[in-house]
Amino acid sequence: MLTAVLMLFLAACGASKPAEQKETEKESQTQQTETETEHMPTEAASGNGTLVVYFSRTGEQYTVGVIDKGNTAIVAEMIAKETGADLFEILPEEDYYPYTYDELTDVARQEQNENARPAYQGPVPDLSKYDTVFIGAPVWWGDWPMIMYTFFENEDLSGKTLIPFSTHEGSGLSGFDQKLSAACPDSEVLDGLAIRGNDAQNDQDGVRSDVNEWLAGLND
Ligand SMILES: Cc1cc2nc3c(=O)[nH]c(=O)nc-3n(C[C@H](O)[C@H](O)[C@H](O)COP(=O)(O)O)c2cc1C
Repeated sequence: MLTAVLMLFLAACGASKPAEQKETEKESQTQQTETETEHMPTEAASGNGTLVVYFSRTGEQYTVGVIDKGNTAIVAEMIAKETGADLFEILPEEDYYPYTYDELTDVARQEQNENARPAYQGPVPDLSKYDTVFIGAPVWWGDWPMIMYTFFENEDLSGKTLIPFSTHEGSGLSGFDQKLSAACPDSEVLDGLAIRGNDAQNDQDGVRSDVNEWLAGLND
């Protein structure tokens, strides 16, 4: 029993893998994606130790039609701008996610049922440079998209302050904070922010003001 609990604990936030194995995986990710640089972080350009990591989809989305910038991407960029943080977008290594909303919901449901861990593209920024990481994603079927769990488990987020945010169409934060705490028990998780996807597209002044109010509250 104790061994099982210990294994579960070690599986969180990348702590289960020996450094050597993680390094080899990172190297091979780097080789595979040397030409895919458009989503690379601005290499700690801010130098303020804060990173915004997010996952977001374009294409057909609920209530907003076809969008060319994802709802979560809009909020992530706002947070980065307001805090001076660097940005890192989680992109699937193999982008099999459908463009149409109904088909996307089926694929997402299947991933959830299978407890899948979809791979994402590297290179991931050097996380040792960041002590605060905002982490955002759309709510998918009441939960983080499964690719986010891949990130929580692959990367070493221990000892960092993690701040979740979601975009959604009714479910709010959907337990993102508790689920993040459970996946990363060795990190501090602060109060999250939930923004309607439709507002991210159509009421950006309102969203900016919510973001700023939330950010100010985090410093209290
Ligand atoms: C696969 C899928 C599942 C979703 N499940 C939920 C949900 O459970 N609750 C909710 O409020 N919204 C849900 N939505 C709506 C998205 O959370 C919302 O449109 C979000 O803003 C999309 O963000 P994005 O453009 O960054 O991907 C779902 C959307 C998709 C595509």
